[in-house]
Amino acid sequence: MNKVYTKETILKLLSGMSSEKEIRKYLERFSSDDFRFAVIKVGGAVIQNDLENLVSSISFLHEVGLKPIIIHGGGPSLSSELDANEIEFSFLDGQRITTSEVLDVAHSVFTSESKKITNALEKKNVTSKAFYDDAFVCEIKDNKLGFVGEVCEINIASIKKSIDDGEIPILSPMGRTIEGQLVNINADNATLAISKKILPDKVIFLSELGGILDQNNVLISNINLKDDYEYLMSKDWLHSGMKHKLKQINNLLNLLPKNSSASITKPLNLTRELFTDAGSGTLVKLGHKINKFESVSLDQSSTVQSILEKSFKGKLNKNFFDGNKKYYLSSCDRAVIVMRYEEKAAYMDKFAVMNDARGEGLGKAIMKKMMLDHPKIFWRSRPNNNINSYYKNACDGFQKHSEWNIYWIGIEDLDELSGCIRYAIEQPLSITYEY
Ligand code: ARG
Repeated sequence: MNKVYTKETILKLLSGMSSEKEIRKYLERFSSDDFRFAVIKVGGAVIQNDLENLVSSISFLHEVGLKPIIIHGGGPSLSSELDANEIEFSFLDGQRITTSEVLDVAHSVFTSESKKITNALEKKNVTSKAFYDDAFVCEIKDNKLGFVGEVCEINIASIKKSIDDGEIPILSPMGRTIEGQLVNINADNATLAISKKILPDKVIFLSELGGILDQNNVLISNINLKDDYEYLMSKDWLHSGMKHKLKQINNLLNLLPKNSSASITKPLNLTRELFTDAGSGTLVKLGHKINKFESVSLDQSSTVQSILEKSFKGKLNKNFFDGNKKYYLSSCDRAVIVMRYEEKAAYMDKFAVMNDARGEGLGKAIMKKMMLDHPKIFWRSRPNNNINSYYKNACDGFQKHSEWNIYWIGIEDLDELSGCIRYAIEQPLSITYEY
């Protein structure tokens, strides 16, 4: 189903963000199926500290006709309420042991957290429907945890009905057993359960931090699980909360359709994350494996050839695959890097990402893999190439010549550098353009 967006809406989105074309691409993608757009998990701390931005971003989605399903947490409020009432509580494997006293407080805390969201939305004229304890049918599987439920069924018909009625469903992490006993559900498990049922295009985690940070506290923009998961999980600097989240996202994405993704962001950055290629937060995809070859089979060479010819819109020379080269190819056959070795440093002969793979972090993933093998690299590109701003960020230095810009990484010796620059400028074209 295609919706028509008013110029006004687009302009509102555009203000300082990105190209209209990019925004329309995402609007169309996200509105193609009413129920499958997104499950949004709202962390408890966000309701406490960032409610205003939260409801603004949700009402904006509503305004452009998108229909998310919201599920909220409330752990921090529950803990402080229990403390205030001097009720003791503890955790087992990250799950809160729920005695009947804890359960009562949980019910009132989650209900009031949920009301904070619905009331604030109401003020913006957005109708929502709270499901305090009637979205999930549960079983108590582990008696050690007390009244903790595992979701065995979801009341999907009422959730869909509320969406059809133009409401935004707001789910609390509580449910009932078949016998009607109230139970507490870990909010991340509830998110997993609802996502498994809906198979959303996006699962969004709204947190205060707004993403996963690296060892220098810089936001990691893209994570491709197939390539990055083990590396990240092995790092001491990734703190345990983040590891836990990543592990859950890994489980989740393994259950969802291949194109689904998870985004971790904060309310203020949600629109930018959703409607631009670059995003603002951490985008996690199952991703693609990047394979490398010293020589290519006939099949592989025709794949490489097709990616290069499509992205450079020309014909590859016959002898392109001769000589001393290394190839990096994504398992989805949509990105390639070709390296050549005739200087002391390595020459990046070709780098191409297919247009429909932009915004997925594939280009960055393949570059990263190639850079791990090569401390010294240089390459060239046409001065009018759109990718140059990315290259400028990625390189250690660059020099502009009339026909080519030359970029390099890791080359410090000036004689060596000028050799590389000369080499790059002198390389004959390996693609013929037909006009
Ligand atoms: N808007 C796209 C999406 O929501 C791309 C987001 C890219 N985000 C990022 N943090 N790299 O799927």
